[in-house]
Order: sequence, then C-alpha cells, then structure tokens
Amino acid sequence: MMTYGLKLICSLGVAVALGGSVASAAGEFDNAIKARKAVMSLYAWNLGQLAAMAKGEADYNADAATTAAENIRILASMNNGSAWPQGSDSTALPGQTRAKVEAWTTYPESAEIGKQLIVAATAMSEAAGSGVEGVRSNIGAIGGSCKACHEKFRESD
Ligand code: HEC
Repeated sequence: MMTYGLKLICSLGVAVALGGSVASAAGEFDNAIKARKAVMSLYAWNLGQLAAMAKGEADYNADAATTAAENIRILASMNNGSAWPQGSDSTALPGQTRAKVEAWTTYPESAEIGKQLIVAATAMSEAAGSGVEGVRSNIGAIGGSCKACHEKFRESD
C-alpha cells in the first residue's frame, strides 16, 4: 500500500513538472526556430559525409557523395523564409535561438550567402561522382558559405 501511494505521488509529480515545462517553453516562434535548426542539421549531416570522404575517414563512394551534394543543393534551394519570422532573433529571444537580429536588419545579405551556397553545392553535385578529388576540390566553397553566414548572423557558442 505504501509503495503504491508513493508511486502515485511520484507520477503526479512528474505530470505536473512536465505540464509546467511545456507551458513555459511554448512560444509563438518555437516551431519556426525548430524547423530552421532542422534544415541546418541536415546541412551538417550531409556535409559531414562529404567531409569524411574528403579526409579519408570514410571510403569514397560516388553515389553517396553525389547524393549528399544534391541534398545540400536542394536544401539551399528551398524557400524556407517562413521559418525565419520577424522577431525570432537572439536579441528578442535570448537562449532560444542563435540567429542574430542582423539577419533581418541587413536582409537580403544572408540570402546572398544562401545563393553562394547553391552555386557551391551545384559545383559539388557535378564533381562529386567523378572521384574523391572532386569532393576535395569543392568542399571548401561549401564550408566557406556556411562559415560566412555563421560569422555574420549566428551567435557564437
Ligand atoms: C544564410 C545563412 C546561413 C547559411 C548559408 C548556413 N547557416 Fe547554419 N545557421 C545559420 C543561423 C542564423 C543559425 C542559428 C539558427 C537558430 O539558432 O535559430 C545556424 C545554425 C546552424 C547549426 C546549429 C543548429 C541547431 O540545432 O542549433 C548548424 C549545425 C549549422 N547552422 C550548420 C550549417 C551548415 C553545415 C551550413 C552549410 C552547408 C550552414 N549551416 C549554412 C545561418 C546559416
């Protein structure tokens, strides 16, 4: 009986704690921020595969390299403007996003960097299937576009 009572109290406590955290974390821009971070994670996932091949940490595979490059090109070509609503910057929402307000105030500067990424990823798509050298010679331009945007528009860690 004692054990049962304790369990009941514990599970109620958990339910209350979860309810509380869900309510306080739910903000107007939560899902938009989640969505744009998901795009970024997919960039990193695909670029990581190319980087591993370029460094010789993974065996070169023409199909896998071309697919990863294509994925980056397609991701960069998507119009995900809806995931970047006004007011969802790190000045307004510190701790919830690393997107600097400058991404909005200097727009379309960030979009121009996005266009460079499309160009770099297209070049990678065309070269990635022809050998590991094709991956090596194009990866710098892709990484450079990521870096250029992060340096200007993303809070450092
Ligand atoms: C147009 C600008 C831009 C480009 C291009 C860009 N990023 Fe980002 N990235 C950002 C911003 C801004 C954030 C912060 C997003 C946030 O916290 O809301 C970010 C966040 C990230 C994150 C962290 C995601 C998370 O879960 O917090 C990763 C990883 C990332 N970018 C990888 C990449 C890679 C890899 C590339 C290149 C293939 C890239 N990004 C290209 C602007 C860019």
